[in-house]
Amino acid sequence: SVTRHYKFDIKLKNVTRLCTTKSIVTVNGKFPGPRIIAREGDRVLVNVVNHVPNNMTIHWHGIRQLQNGWADGPSYITQCPIQTNQSYVYNFTIIGQRGTLFWHAHISWLRATVYGPLIILPKRHAPYPFPKPHKEVPIIFGEWWNVDTEAVISQALQTGNGPNVSNAYTINGLPGPLYNCSKKDTFSLKVKPGKTYLLRLINAAVNDELFFSIANHSLTVVEADAVYVKPFTTNILFITPGQTTNVLLKAKPQYPNATFLMLARPYFTGRGTFDNSTVAGILEYKEHSNSSSSTSLKSHPLFRPILPQINATSFVANFTSKLRSLANSRFPANVPKTVERRFFFTIGLGTNPCPKNQTCQGPTNTTKFAASMNNISFALPSVAMLQSHFFAQSNSVYSTDFPIIPPKPFNYTGTPPNNTNVNNGTKVVVLKFNTSVELVMQGTSILGAESHPLHLHGFNFFVVGQGFGNFDPNKDPSNFNLVDPVERNSVGVPSGGWVAIRFLADNPGVWLMHCHFDVHLSWGLRMAWVVQDGKLPNQKLPPPPSDLPKC
Ligand code: C2O
Repeated sequence: SVTRHYKFDIKLKNVTRLCTTKSIVTVNGKFPGPRIIAREGDRVLVNVVNHVPNNMTIHWHGIRQLQNGWADGPSYITQCPIQTNQSYVYNFTIIGQRGTLFWHAHISWLRATVYGPLIILPKRHAPYPFPKPHKEVPIIFGEWWNVDTEAVISQALQTGNGPNVSNAYTINGLPGPLYNCSKKDTFSLKVKPGKTYLLRLINAAVNDELFFSIANHSLTVVEADAVYVKPFTTNILFITPGQTTNVLLKAKPQYPNATFLMLARPYFTGRGTFDNSTVAGILEYKEHSNSSSSTSLKSHPLFRPILPQINATSFVANFTSKLRSLANSRFPANVPKTVERRFFFTIGLGTNPCPKNQTCQGPTNTTKFAASMNNISFALPSVAMLQSHFFAQSNSVYSTDFPIIPPKPFNYTGTPPNNTNVNNGTKVVVLKFNTSVELVMQGTSILGAESHPLHLHGFNFFVVGQGFGNFDPNKDPSNFNLVDPVERNSVGVPSGGWVAIRFLADNPGVWLMHCHFDVHLSWGLRMAWVVQDGKLPNQKLPPPPSDLPKC
């Protein structure tokens, strides 16, 4: 294994999409940002230098950061932000992981433009558990606003209303030909007949779960969230923000006299506004090494894939139930078989009262939108929690009384309670080192049944069960899959349903868990787990690096 050095210069750059030019925050002037490529076992050093007026942090989404929370990145959780003209070196070693992940800004809504692939190749001479692909291609989904996204969220938080939806979805930063003024900004994948391609799909969209399909081609899913899965073939993929999926695409044996569109558009079940537009890219067979992509769109018939209905919840449930760990001797599924601590969290929207002397445009004009777990809407502290934890100064920064069950049980997927107001607080659950945890996350229908892609920092978890309606603690656990559940870092809490996960708290530190829709994250849909040090020296969180930013 080797050490890989990267430099991330955070700078402004004028970028034009949909005929609108705006100045965006980028890494090294690139949108999407540069790829990080490393091998399992490598150490990665990323020197992030902030040249923009905004504060910045970068999160290495899905990297376990074993005993290394100082490099995790969520602002005010594991570190104070990197201020203008300051820098911080993220220093982490990739242990026991290989596959596709991504990195993104973890402060305010800056990840709308600050994101890129993080690719972990297997150790040298360690083969994939599937045939070696001819080529590997990252496909990263995002969203584009014609206006400044920081203004979108600050205005929403001011008024208490939902933020403006994006103007386009993107593939590798490009909206594609179905949007106005966007033909030349089209992602094109050129393939050779008969060859197999590994597509590394990443959903970096800010607020949308997506369906994805390529016309006349099926895809074989081989990995999710940087863990291999039992391969299965599908025409349509479903991917939530925070999730990554590797698929094999086998090109047809001959040059077909046609061009194929790949499309992605959202899955959405809530009320309110959303963008039901479609990003398109092109799959092209390259007959001559220097054929230009613009000719084929015109000269061949164009095939379009069919995507599910926008609210196709049964498709989503069916797709996610197909994801299973390999669970073989080379890649075992180390599912905690016994559980030391059980938790039940309700996940959903709610309201905050409108402050006096303010006009609100939330669900009513006396309320603002909020979001909560067990009715607690997370209040971001002004100093980093991991530092407070490490130096044992927690009292003033956070409290350890996060409720482990909802304050009042109600019919979660039926009649919501009369009072939709949430409580605000910076509350955590404290876990002893190596506790085996089971967490059931129940979606609530307060202000509309919407699914929530929950992401856990610092761990992979096993998705042992999911279902619709109210979770039944007397019946549902008997159907849990403890044999080959999928292991991942982000999971959709189904609209009008629940999901059960298990993980081993073997990583000391402060670990954020949150909805990966930035709108819900901004409304407080997050909490943190504090995992205490173990007794042995290799079970402790080491002291912070000397360049850790100060608040
Ligand atoms: Cu990808 Cu806390 O996020």
